[in-house]
Amino acid sequence: MAKKKTIIELRKMVAAGEKIVYLTGYDYLTAKYEERAGIDMILVGDSLGNVILGHDSTFPVTMEDMIMHCKAVRKGAPNTFVVGDMPFMSYQLSDEEAVANAGRFVKEAGMDCVKLEGINDAAISRVKAINDAGILVMGHIGLTPQFSLQMGGNRAQGKSCDAALKLIDAARKLEEAGACSILVEGVPAIVGKAITEQANIPILGIGAGSYTDGQLLIFADMVGYFDDFTPKFVKRYGDVGGELLRSFTAYAQEVRAGQFPDDSIHSYKISPEEAAALEEALKSR
Ligand code: KIV
Repeated sequence: MAKKKTIIELRKMVAAGEKIVYLTGYDYLTAKYEERAGIDMILVGDSLGNVILGHDSTFPVTMEDMIMHCKAVRKGAPNTFVVGDMPFMSYQLSDEEAVANAGRFVKEAGMDCVKLEGINDAAISRVKAINDAGILVMGHIGLTPQFSLQMGGNRAQGKSCDAALKLIDAARKLEEAGACSILVEGVPAIVGKAITEQANIPILGIGAGSYTDGQLLIFADMVGYFDDFTPKFVKRYGDVGGELLRSFTAYAQEVRAGQFPDDSIHSYKISPEEAAALEEALKSR
């Protein structure tokens, strides 16, 4: 029986200098392949708004969307550490509402941890409240799409000394508030390094350089599936989009040419006696 990965194993990996491998996932099938490949952590990100649901931002994503996709991922990856991303307006209003919604990720979808964005006092307070309720919570700082209206778009952060120091201080406050880990997105490598060096919790990075304790990518970017836009930090490891296109095109061409299905291969068998009886019966209809 495979062993379930917990926060204890992730902490041990950091202590041993082993990099944590983190990928997003949104459905049963992809999660199954991710677990088979030995991915350490899966984020059911609110990026599902862009990647799966076809929205042009993460703002429309609801708690119901998240719970449904988290349940599917949990079924596909029962032994992986899975993080549920708290969608816009599921934690902004109050500590109480944040705890109630974080609880849904655990109770209804079997998540190991929740993640929320932000470096302001409200984010610190939500992290403390969720942690006090006994739920693992990951902070998310740097490029935080739920703050894109205030940031003037999804742009890299921490590019001045002052901005970098603000992020480094925020990471410390989130850790003090009880965050079990922090995801740092879209910052120069030197900022990712400074945050990682001061922390006593796992620091994961996406577009935050090579020094963080682990790396996250959006699965659909790295397998060449999502091509609406590609951030600078993405490396492509596959051509799933190209493979789908080749398969769909070949199928369409064979159906139109009458080459698929081939009844000698793709059809159910009937005994010669039953076939003869059927043909006879059809004649008298
Ligand atoms: O929703 C998500 O997938 C994320 C990552 C882009 C960091 O939060």
